[in-house]
Amino acid sequence: MPLFTPLNPPLPPWPACRAWIIGASTGIGAATARALLAAGARVALSARSEDKLAEVAGESAITRGQARIEPLDFTRGTEVAAAWGRVRAAWGGCDLVLVVAGTHREIRAWELTEADADALLEINLNAPIATIAAVLPALLAQGRGAIGVVSSVAGYRGLPKALVYGASKAALINFTETLYLDLRPKGIGVYLINPGFVKTPLTDKNAFRMPALITAEEAAGVTLAGLRAGRFEIHFPRRFTSTLKLLRLLPYRAYFAIVRRATGC
Ligand SMILES: NC(=O)c1ccc[n+]([C@@H]2O[C@H](COP(=O)([O-])OP(=O)(O)OC[C@H]3O[C@@H](n4cnc5c(N)ncnc54)[C@H](OP(=O)(O)O)[C@@H]3O)[C@@H](O)[C@H]2O)c1
Repeated sequence: MPLFTPLNPPLPPWPACRAWIIGASTGIGAATARALLAAGARVALSARSEDKLAEVAGESAITRGQARIEPLDFTRGTEVAAAWGRVRAAWGGCDLVLVVAGTHREIRAWELTEADADALLEINLNAPIATIAAVLPALLAQGRGAIGVVSSVAGYRGLPKALVYGASKAALINFTETLYLDLRPKGIGVYLINPGFVKTPLTDKNAFRMPALITAEEAAGVTLAGLRAGRFEIHFPRRFTSTLKLLRLLPYRAYFAIVRRATGC
């Protein structure tokens, strides 16, 4: 008997689960799509790069209807709405929507421009929120289903080189917490996925040493386990994220000193 009941309602067993992943062409989203397909789930894969989506899904999964390719730019509401309609029409509903897509760009205070900030906020905050707004009416009408949002531990507290990225992820964490409070009583699950450093095309651009770096496949494995366990926050790797959670509790004087020493910034 578990000490605490799961925060989220159970998802259907993977072979009965219909999932839509936005941001499935590379990195964490692609690895999660592959892991869900391997577990027997039906998966619709979205991102802008159609060729990469087809490669991730695999020809045989597409042919036998286990995988669907739904190329789109999730900053365009009409494309998101059309794809969402096709996924539900094809499968008679959807059990899990994972909003993984995002981008990163190092910005220091002295490099800040409105245009760069807008571009980052559009992908990391506005588009995820708009996508969730687009899927919610159908999920509420179903009275079940779940939404998973990939944010980042960079949203826990301010970190150097993450001037706008961290702000976008902090806002997304807050948004997802509030989403949970609103939707759980209506039978809809909400998952907040906060990765530490994962080796993907996004982090391949980082010139600094990334502590506790894990593979996208490891990230996908922990994500699937967290979804199955009905956790609200799925964070990994714990050896890194647990430290950051402790740092969250420190007063600013101690927090700033530790971050400066650890990063050299
Ligand atoms: N890697 C890490 O260490 C790490 C840590 C914390 C959080 N995260 C978060 O995890 C998520 C996935 O990152 P990742 O590391 O796996 O990066 P990634 O390999 O660069 O993947 C980003 C995904 O987002 C898609 N995407 C970007 N812009 C899009 C748009 N306008 N419309 C539709 N899809 C779009 C990309 O596909 P297309 O380019 O084909 O559109 C790709 O599938 C991001 O939200 C990131 O902030 C990553």
